[in-house]
Amino acid sequence: MTAAAPDPLSDLNALLAFYAEAGADEPLGDETVNRFAQAAGRVDAPRATSHTSAQPREPRRSLQPAAAQPASPPQRPPAITVPDEQQAAMARQLASGATSLEELRERMAFFDGCNLKFTAKNLVFADGNPQADIMFVGEAPGRDEDLEGRPFVGRSGQLLDRMLAAIGLDRGSAYIANVIPWRPPGNRAPTPHETEICRPFIERQIELVGPKVLVHLGGASAKTLLNTTEGILRLRGNWRSYAAASGASIPAMPTLHPAYLLRTPAHKRLAWRDFLEVKMKLRSLQ
Ligand code: URA
Repeated sequence: MTAAAPDPLSDLNALLAFYAEAGADEPLGDETVNRFAQAAGRVDAPRATSHTSAQPREPRRSLQPAAAQPASPPQRPPAITVPDEQQAAMARQLASGATSLEELRERMAFFDGCNLKFTAKNLVFADGNPQADIMFVGEAPGRDEDLEGRPFVGRSGQLLDRMLAAIGLDRGSAYIANVIPWRPPGNRAPTPHETEICRPFIERQIELVGPKVLVHLGGASAKTLLNTTEGILRLRGNWRSYAAASGASIPAMPTLHPAYLLRTPAHKRLAWRDFLEVKMKLRSLQ
């Protein structure tokens, strides 16, 4: 028996069908495309939009030969608005309209403009006593916080509890929140865009709590809220002034993040000094 002769056309068809099913339904162009420049909005193609963008998607190119496409004069696309700025504007609007912490929490839960929300399990709003004289602000929730929906409940939270206890505080006499209320996937650092989108929420949260003293846990919180690029090892231990949107000026102490102290226990003595400063400041404000 002789084997059937291979049919190149049907093999090709089968291969194309396989590609189409796998979603590979676009030909590669002859010219290279700079996707990085596109993403930065610098060249003539709409950037890949986030799932939250209101921008319409670019229609998919068909597999028809180029000759079949109607000729059109080359055009510059309209200027690309940066979706992240729209989200930050929306966050500012929502945050400024919140008249209580509960309303702020509801508005944050409603807000879809930060991509971190879609990978997080929970909104991590706050823990502790909103009437407290002192507010601690960390960077962003980790895995344990995401699962529980409360800030600083994992290993670094347990260390924070011990540090609070060392100066006579606990979660009944302190209020705790984060700059970013949703866990970044894999505990990566939040991007500058994510931080700017979430900033209005933590700023409003600080305003609504109105603490007498603010403590920044780690460089991300200090840099974001004190608008500085200085590193935490230079910032820590020195009183700064946090300018609330209400015009109030709150004494703010940047200190080392408990997660950093777990990795670098030799620096616990620095944090201990900062906490003693905080204790004295609270006492002086009674
Ligand atoms: N690290 C933070 O900055 N915040 C948390 O809530 C937990 C860990």
